[in-house]
Amino acid sequence: MKASVLSVCATLLQLCAGCPSECVCNSLEANCSGRSLVFVPALTSLPEGTHTLLLANNRLSSLPVSAFANLSTLETLDLSNNYLDNLPSRLFRELSNLSDLSLRNNSLTVLDRELFRGLTLLRRLDLSLNGLPAVPLGLLDELQGLTWLSLAGNRLHALERATFEPLVNLQHLELGMNPWECDCNLRDFKHWMEWLIYRGGYVDAVECTLPKDLRGHDIRGVPVEMFNYCLQLEDENGGTATPSSNGAVVRTPAELPDCVKQRYRPVSVRRAIGTVVIAGVVCGIVCIMMVAAAAYGCIYASLMAKYQRELKKRQPLMGDAEAEADPEEKHISSVA
Ligand SMILES: *[C@@H]1O[C@H](CO)[C@@H](O)[C@H](O)[C@H]1NC(C)=O
Ligand SMILES: *[C@@H]1O[C@H](CO)[C@@H](O)[C@H](O)[C@H]1NC(C)=O
Ligand SMILES: *[C@@H]1O[C@H](CO)[C@@H](O)[C@H](O)[C@H]1NC(C)=O
Ligand SMILES: *[C@@H]1O[C@H](CO)[C@@H](O)[C@H](O)[C@H]1NC(C)=O
Repeated sequence: MKASVLSVCATLLQLCAGCPSECVCNSLEANCSGRSLVFVPALTSLPEGTHTLLLANNRLSSLPVSAFANLSTLETLDLSNNYLDNLPSRLFRELSNLSDLSLRNNSLTVLDRELFRGLTLLRRLDLSLNGLPAVPLGLLDELQGLTWLSLAGNRLHALERATFEPLVNLQHLELGMNPWECDCNLRDFKHWMEWLIYRGGYVDAVECTLPKDLRGHDIRGVPVEMFNYCLQLEDENGGTATPSSNGAVVRTPAELPDCVKQRYRPVSVRRAIGTVVIAGVVCGIVCIMMVAAAAYGCIYASLMAKYQRELKKRQPLMGDAEAEADPEEKHISSVA
């Protein structure tokens, strides 16, 4: 019954006027801003070919998944200054012509990684002034056309480089007013940012909140050498820079030399072990040679002694023999 009444209403709306009563429409734009709307008006009746839909400055806190169904002509959608805190993952699925989307100043704390799927023509995306603690990997994968992105004024402390790499046409990136933690978790993203700036892009200030020693510093001014210890940490963690819990790998510059030392300590220990092993082997060989030489000496000496003794034993015999032979000789000679 209710459904049929609704459908009758919808049909009537569609028949009567193109524009929802809450909005002001012209041929290209539907302005539903600042009407204290709690629910999205029925938009199926928007004038055909509407390019711009303004829903800013209302009290929207949630949107049905079909809120923007059939609005494939839409190019600009403004949802700023509402109380949106959770968006259905397929909400924008049919807005294949959308080029400008603003979700500024809402209460978003999580974004489904499928949310922007299919928005390949999106050029401008405003996510500033929300409560986002992270940008999920894959969220921006299909936004190759994006040139302008704001994530300013959220609760971001780190970003992953891989999340942003699909944005090959990005020119303008706003990251200010976030509690950045300038540690290893942000190093790869810093490199990506430097590439963006190198190819002519703009990034606003990325001020570190942690570690204490870097508070207020712009991460782009922090020399890359100060992140060298991250590589060593990666080595120790088996090649994975694990962004563990909040502020896990925070290192202040004063601690840096310690990290380096800590990293080198095992190496020097390993080297020392190596030296000991080599020295041991050399000593062992020398010892064996000495023992062999000593044994050889002893055997030689004893053999010589034995030989000498036998020589001495034999000498008297030989003397006897001579003595015996002599008389014979004498005898023979006497006989001769
Ligand atoms: C839309 O409507 C609001 C409230 O009526 C008005 O303040 C605003 O200027 C309008 N915006 C545009 C772009 O027409
Ligand atoms: C979408 O628009 C087409 C024609 O423009 C219409 O036939 C169809 O019912 C609409 N679908 C919805 C969900 O509004
Ligand atoms: C998308 O936008 C382009 C350029 O504004 C327009 O030519 C095209 O018809 C639009 N497509 C749809 C489905 O509205
Ligand atoms: C954010 O939205 C709220 C509620 O819509 C509004 O009162 C506030 O002025 C807005 N803040 C900014 C900075 O636009």
